[in-house]
Amino acid sequence: MPSSPTRRKPRNCLWIPILLCLFNELSFAEAESSTILLPSQQNNADSVSTTFSAHCPAPDPSLNYRPVIGILSHPGDGASGRLSNATNASYIAASYVKFVESGGARVIPLIFNEPEEILFEKLELVNGILYTGGWAKNGLYYDIVEKIFKKILEKNDVGDHFPVYAICLGFELLSMIVSEDRNILETFDGANQASTLQFVKNINIEGTLFQRFPPELLKKLSTDCLVMQNHHYGISPERMQANQELAKFFKILTTSMDEYNKVYVSTVQAYNYPVTAFQWHPEKNAFEWGPKAIPHTEDAIRVTQQAANFFISEARKSSNRPPARKVLDNLIYNYSPTYCGKAGKGYDEVYIFT
Ligand SMILES: *[C@@H]1O[C@H](CO)[C@@H](O)[C@H](O)[C@H]1NC(C)=O
Ligand SMILES: *[C@@H]1O[C@H](CO)[C@@H](O)[C@H](O)[C@H]1NC(C)=O
Repeated sequence: MPSSPTRRKPRNCLWIPILLCLFNELSFAEAESSTILLPSQQNNADSVSTTFSAHCPAPDPSLNYRPVIGILSHPGDGASGRLSNATNASYIAASYVKFVESGGARVIPLIFNEPEEILFEKLELVNGILYTGGWAKNGLYYDIVEKIFKKILEKNDVGDHFPVYAICLGFELLSMIVSEDRNILETFDGANQASTLQFVKNINIEGTLFQRFPPELLKKLSTDCLVMQNHHYGISPERMQANQELAKFFKILTTSMDEYNKVYVSTVQAYNYPVTAFQWHPEKNAFEWGPKAIPHTEDAIRVTQQAANFFISEARKSSNRPPARKVLDNLIYNYSPTYCGKAGKGYDEVYIFT
């Protein structure tokens, strides 16, 4: 067919996907050498993914390149009743989901007030856990956070690398759980403000989320207000060090200052577990637009991206390989977020579970 210049473009658009499909089929066949499985013969929907073509072998076959993160929902609708007043409602701000996705993982919501056996079945489908911000510090929510956390420590103890990111409320809850002291927290004036991160003197950041930060960005963390704070509670470095359990479990990486220059611990990493806790919000810079104090500079966005990359790089080390179908059935893609950002405050989008 003679191709005029105006026709060439659409023709390419048509052919490229077909050629790509063909290439995929061929390389798949090549890798499988003699047997070519029809889609209907593949009992595991994820089986293709683990078979890299002969030309592009898996960089490290021991890693999981399809990690899934469980995010625990928090009581309420995340919008002070503007979206739902159902007493059993719980929510996940979509920024946490996007944060995880931006690191190269998918999300399964763990709905905190679901029957416990369902919740813990879902825990077996993921490769890491994210505890979000919020306010709930007692009742069923606290108990579930603690039960999941203990289960995760057990998993790590038996050699299943299973990372945790605990953000804001998550930081506070892990401080309470690890210290076994529900009154361990102090009050701070850290609401709705951007801050710096001050690194502990001579701290070794190897094996922490800061390890792969570009040096110049790492430096700016302590001079520029690149992280978002929104909390009324926290813990001072002195108090954390004074508590034997906390001091044994967590290494303090950074501190920050509240409105009245009161110093609180802002980032910790467990000594013996892939557990990082943040008294700041790595997810907000790139994905929340309500509160005006959230930094959106290029550097601030890079902080979000670096933090997401480290989390998912840890999740790829998980040896958990759940049945693909069960994963698909439980992914956050089975739910739709609700836009609530027009109020100009709070979260932009939330997933609500009732
Ligand atoms: C929830 O309750 C408040 C207070 O009564 C009310 O203003 C609001 O409209 C309710 N929200 C919904 C989604 O019905
Ligand atoms: C949650 O509450 C709503 C009404 O507020 C009800 O329709 C729904 O069935 C409840 N769900 C569960 C799981 O109890």
